[in-house]
Amino acid sequence: MKEHYYFDNAATTLPKPEPVYQFIDKFYRSHGVNPGRSGHQLAVEAEAMIVQTRRMLGEFFGYAGDPARVTFSQNATDSMNAALAGILNPGDHLVITRMEHNCVLRPANHFERDHGIEVTRVAADSQGYVNPEDIQKSIRPNTRAVVINHASNVTGSLQDAAAIGKHVRDSDALFILDTCQTAGVVPILMDDWGVDILVYTGHKGLFGPMGIGGMIVGENVDIKAPRVGGTGVNSISPFQPDEYPYRLETGTHCLPGIAGLHAGQKWFAELGKKHGAPEDATHGQACGAALAHIHEVESAATEQLVSAFEKIDGVKIYGPSIGQPRVATLSINIREMPADQVGAMLDADHAVCVRPGLHCAPDVHELLGTVAQNGTVRFAAGYFTDEEDIKQAIDAVKDLAEA
Ligand SMILES: Cc1ncc(COP(=O)(O)O)c(C=O)c1O
Repeated sequence: MKEHYYFDNAATTLPKPEPVYQFIDKFYRSHGVNPGRSGHQLAVEAEAMIVQTRRMLGEFFGYAGDPARVTFSQNATDSMNAALAGILNPGDHLVITRMEHNCVLRPANHFERDHGIEVTRVAADSQGYVNPEDIQKSIRPNTRAVVINHASNVTGSLQDAAAIGKHVRDSDALFILDTCQTAGVVPILMDDWGVDILVYTGHKGLFGPMGIGGMIVGENVDIKAPRVGGTGVNSISPFQPDEYPYRLETGTHCLPGIAGLHAGQKWFAELGKKHGAPEDATHGQACGAALAHIHEVESAATEQLVSAFEKIDGVKIYGPSIGQPRVATLSINIREMPADQVGAMLDADHAVCVRPGLHCAPDVHELLGTVAQNGTVRFAAGYFTDEEDIKQAIDAVKDLAEA
């Protein structure tokens, strides 16, 4: 019997792989200095760890450009705001979808209301899929960017980023991909898919701690500095350096966060070597094998949940059917019960941790018709979800549905 059965991995992954905790602790004790500022050996070594993490993340995301364009921030929300503010000008047109998180919806709404940006919101079908041709049709001569949530944090629907990227590439618009629900969960090929700006968060599938995220900015993209200040380089200059990463990174880095991503990347590579990658595989190849394995493990857990929930009278499942492209995030409701009430009962009576509510994605609930029920109850299995967790979740839902 566990104290908790954790199904809130779409909010943040728990636990992290053990080497992540260990490396953060060890590195912060031995090298907890201000990297890139002072010239002493410890600062140089801390900076070297950061540079290596940029390289590993670039390879992990299928990006072969300058690693200095793999940048760090507080989280995905911070980088998405910076990306949009850095490229949009009054009179521009922005395309987003109805599947977006508030990390995109709210900046888009503010740009539309306050800064003369036109916004088109492309609809999705009842299972949460956006038709790439609808994206193509929405692009205009003044479209500056198309922003897509790679996988829904409500339904788990995985969009066809390669097909969407092809359409965007045929235009003058930039393609921005929100990978919060897919980084560390499915392979992502930034260059092959024509992604211009890839936004990631560190604390979900990448297994870093909270407080770290960032974006990778393709070499063809020019982006304005979102914030200006100290960088530790060229301090005599009155203005922010144009060079990356300084253009997008100012002030002291979150060193423990980057250390966590660093250890996470090494853990992915090790896992890949245990699951099909040769010993001499590149970092990107090893991580590719790890991601194929992780996706298989998480898909099996999701299928178990979906097929058990389908058999319980009174349970409604939203989003993709079994076999459709998806991540592990899964939304249900039980009869007419408000989602928050179900979430509270799962926690109090069964120690099952889920996330009920709108999940910062109100448009998705308009689409699903779940606003009046206070949203949905979200189960998100992760790589460390085991049979005991799954059994507990199924028994708990059965219990509530029968009560
Ligand atoms: C699809 C999606 N985009 C963006 C975010 C925002 O991530 P963060 O809160 O780490 O900035 C989330 C987090 O829940 C998400 O699921």
